[in-house]
Amino acid sequence: MSKVKKCLFPAAGYGTRFLPVTKSMPKEMLPLVNKPLIQYGVEEAMQAGISGMAIVTGRGKRALEDHFDISYELEHQIAGTSKEGALTDIRKIIEACTFSYTRQIEMKGLGHAILTGETLIGLEPFAVVLADDYCVTEADGVLAQMVALYEKHQCSIVAIEEVPRDETYKYGVIAGEEIEPGVYRVSEMVEKPAPEVAPSNLAIIGRYVLTPDIFDILRETPPGRNNEVQITDALMTQAQKGGVLAYKFKGRRFDCGSIEGFMDASNYNYTNVYKKA
Ligand code: G1P
Repeated sequence: MSKVKKCLFPAAGYGTRFLPVTKSMPKEMLPLVNKPLIQYGVEEAMQAGISGMAIVTGRGKRALEDHFDISYELEHQIAGTSKEGALTDIRKIIEACTFSYTRQIEMKGLGHAILTGETLIGLEPFAVVLADDYCVTEADGVLAQMVALYEKHQCSIVAIEEVPRDETYKYGVIAGEEIEPGVYRVSEMVEKPAPEVAPSNLAIIGRYVLTPDIFDILRETPPGRNNEVQITDALMTQAQKGGVLAYKFKGRRFDCGSIEGFMDASNYNYTNVYKKA
């Protein structure tokens, strides 16, 4: 059985909702208190036993690479001072993981971003994290929960949560039969449907485990919603061919792609993580 050893981070988007801060800074570097969003995603992947971090970047995203690298000058400067401890976590990540990068030249949708990452993934199952969906859990992280489910079923899995009906237009939405508590065999999947036509209120959130045949499917997937290649459409094809599961994860998600969700997550982390550390 192939294990999930790599995680893909599509990180080429512009983050226009946060302008002007994202004019020269990657949105994935926006911090919840003092740690950037992308680092939370990497930590969640590590918790799921993953050590290969594959990041699809674009122009203006160099800060991501610098974050997951040593900063000799800075580290030399603070060596032996009380400030050194602030870099302990990130140093551990750098030592335990490998980071690889490729650039998406044109923004043609999430499906296209994932296909761009093929060169970093190869022929193995892999996880996908959209860093602007920030998830907190009591025990296992969302990806750890999904990898455990993958080991049982060996097929692509999307994380879902119930959303208010009038918000289905923001998400990929699934329908399917519940085969065990919280696990659905997907029969329908639509990208950003209007509430009147949404097949349910079960929305996909930014966590996926994908089998590598998804790349061939993505190559054949025509542009869909917003004239972009959608991973949701490719997954619908995969669901018809073999089977895709949707998993109602245990935990809470913050939509850090919106100012409101980002502020909620910042306040939550300040109170529940930062102050308690
Ligand atoms: C993407 C996906 C969508 C999913 C969402 C989760 O949309 O296309 O299916 O529900 O992520 O955050 P985006 O938010 O990038 O527009």
